[in-house]
Amino acid sequence: MTGQQRGLVSLTELERSSVVANNTMNRERGLAGVNSYARELGVDPLAWLSDRSPGARSWLDLCSGEGRALREAASALPPDAVLTGVDLVGPLVPLPTPPAMEEITASVSTWAPTRPYDLITCVHGLHYVGDQLGLLTRAASWLTEDGLLLAHFDPESIRWADGGGTAGRAVVAELRATGFAYDSRRHLLTLQGARLTTATTALPFTYMGADPTAGPNYTGQPAVGSHYSRTITDTAE
Ligand SMILES: C[S@@+](CC[C@H](N)C(=O)[O-])C[C@H]1O[C@@H](n2cnc3c(N)ncnc32)[C@H](O)[C@@H]1O
Repeated sequence: MTGQQRGLVSLTELERSSVVANNTMNRERGLAGVNSYARELGVDPLAWLSDRSPGARSWLDLCSGEGRALREAASALPPDAVLTGVDLVGPLVPLPTPPAMEEITASVSTWAPTRPYDLITCVHGLHYVGDQLGLLTRAASWLTEDGLLLAHFDPESIRWADGGGTAGRAVVAELRATGFAYDSRRHLLTLQGARLTTATTALPFTYMGADPTAGPNYTGQPAVGSHYSRTITDTAE
C-alpha cells in the first residue's frame, strides 16, 4: 500500500491542513513565568545565554510562534546576542523587530541557517512537523561545539508506515544511541554539543509521509503523525 492510499500527505498538503494552519494553538509563551519557555523546558534560556561569554550567545528558536520569548531576551541580553526565530506563519500580531532579533517566516522542514547556534529550541513545534526525525538530525548539525538543543517530542507520534503501529520505543533508542537524552516526563529531547554533520546523527528510519488526522497528542491538541519505515542498508559486497 502506498503512502497516499494510507492517507499520508505531502509537505504542501500538511502545511495547509487544519492541524498545522491552526491559529488557536498556544504560540505566545514568554521567557519565564506561567506560560513560558523556562517552565516548559526546565531551562531558562535567558539565564543560560547570559552565563555565556561574549560572541557565544546565539539562540535559534524553531517554530517560534509570536516570538515573545526571543523578543524578551533581545531586550535583556548584551548587544552581541544573535536571536533568530523561524515560524511557518510568523507572528499573528506583528511588532517591530528588535535589532538583535531576526524573524523568519519559513517552514523548518525546508529552511536551513547560514551559521551555527549556541542554543536551539523547538517548544511544542515538532508536533506539527512531518519529518520530525529529519529536522532533529539537521538541527543537531547546526549546534556550536558546546551548544544545547532542546525540543519537545512525542514518541507516540512516530508510527511505522507499514501498519501504523508506534515506532516510539525504537526511535527513542536510536536517538539515545546518537547522543540525545530523552526526558519522558517533560517529553523533552536534549542534545549537548555539535554533531558536525548530519551523517553523524543519521537515524536508520526513512520518512514516508505525514498523517494530519492522527488526533490529539499528550498536550491535548491535535497533532501530526509522522510515518517511517526502517532504512534498509545494502550490506552486499
Ligand atoms: C504550539 S505553537 C508554539 C509556538 C512557540 N514555540 C511557543 O511556545 O509559544 C507551534 C508553532 O509551530 C509553528 N509551525 C508549525 N509547523 C511549522 C513548520 N513546518 N515550520 C515552522 N513553524 C511551524 C506554528 O505556526 C506555531 O507557531
